[in-house]
Parts: sequence; structure tokens; C-alpha cells
Amino acid sequence: MFVTSDLRNLSKPDLYRELTAQVSAVIEGETDPVANMANCAALIFNSLPDVNWAGFYLLKGGELVLGPFQGQPACVRIAFGRGVVGTAAEKRSTIRVPDVNQFPGHIACDTASRSEIVVALLGGDSHLLGVLDVDSPELDRFDAEDETGLREIGKIISAKL
Ligand code: SME
Repeated sequence: MFVTSDLRNLSKPDLYRELTAQVSAVIEGETDPVANMANCAALIFNSLPDVNWAGFYLLKGGELVLGPFQGQPACVRIAFGRGVVGTAAEKRSTIRVPDVNQFPGHIACDTASRSEIVVALLGGDSHLLGVLDVDSPELDRFDAEDETGLREIGKIISAKL
């Protein structure tokens, strides 16, 4: 069985290098999207410090529907264009929110969340597949290095959806 190693003492670039390698290794050779998203969420949740939620919302029937995740139970359906999730999906881009209370329309699923990053997941022909969402109980938890690292992980998992 794949055992996660403790990455929390690494520098952020080293942490993301290792985490990206672990995500690639754990989904390599498996084609089931749910299994791959589940392991990806578990790796992110258990490797990144100060994270209280990590998971996926998938575009289904024009809305974002909860996928595999780690953390507290979350809102199941989010309308396209609503909240951070729906806005990142609509813009097909990454949104970093340093303070969720300052984001108009933020949807509070876990009241512990203070900052958030949502990465749009795009298919090979650039159509929207869904988003990767990571929340933190710390204000301003996610910087440009987190964005680069999580976008890279988003690309790897998108290729398997
Ligand atoms: N906060 C998100 C909702 C999803 S939860 O964070 C898991 C939003 O505003 O879209």
C-alpha cells in the first residue's frame, strides 16, 4: 500500500515537487476517476500544512457537484458562477481568496475556513471538467507557490478525468 511521507518540514517548492510526484505515482496505472480523485484529495489533505478541506467539484448538468474530498461534509451542489467554486469554474481559472469573508458570495461549508484556493480543471480541448478546492483555517494561507503547485496537480488529475 502507498504510504504518505511527512512533507510538512520541506520548503514549499520541495513539498510541491514531492507531492506532485506522489500524486503521479498513486494515479499512474489506474483509470477510475473517482479512485484517482479520492487519492489525490487524501494526498493533498495529509501533506499540506494548515488545510481543513481538500477536494473536487465536478461539472455535471451545468452545476458543480461535490466529488471526492477530505474534510468536513460540504455543500453538494454549487451553481455555475456562485461562490469561489462556481466563479473559478465560470472564469475557467484559479482563484486565490486570502480572506473568505471578503469574497462576495463566498459559500461557507466549513465555518473554520478562512482562506481558500480553487483551481479550474480543464480537459485536453480546454473544456471545463470541474475544480480542485483547498481550504485553510489560516488567513492568507495560499501564495503564488501554492497556486503553481496546485495548478500542476490539477493538470495531472485532469488528464485522468
Ligand atoms: N467555499 C466554497 C464552497 C466549497 S467549500 O469551501 C468546500 C465556495 O465559496 O464556493
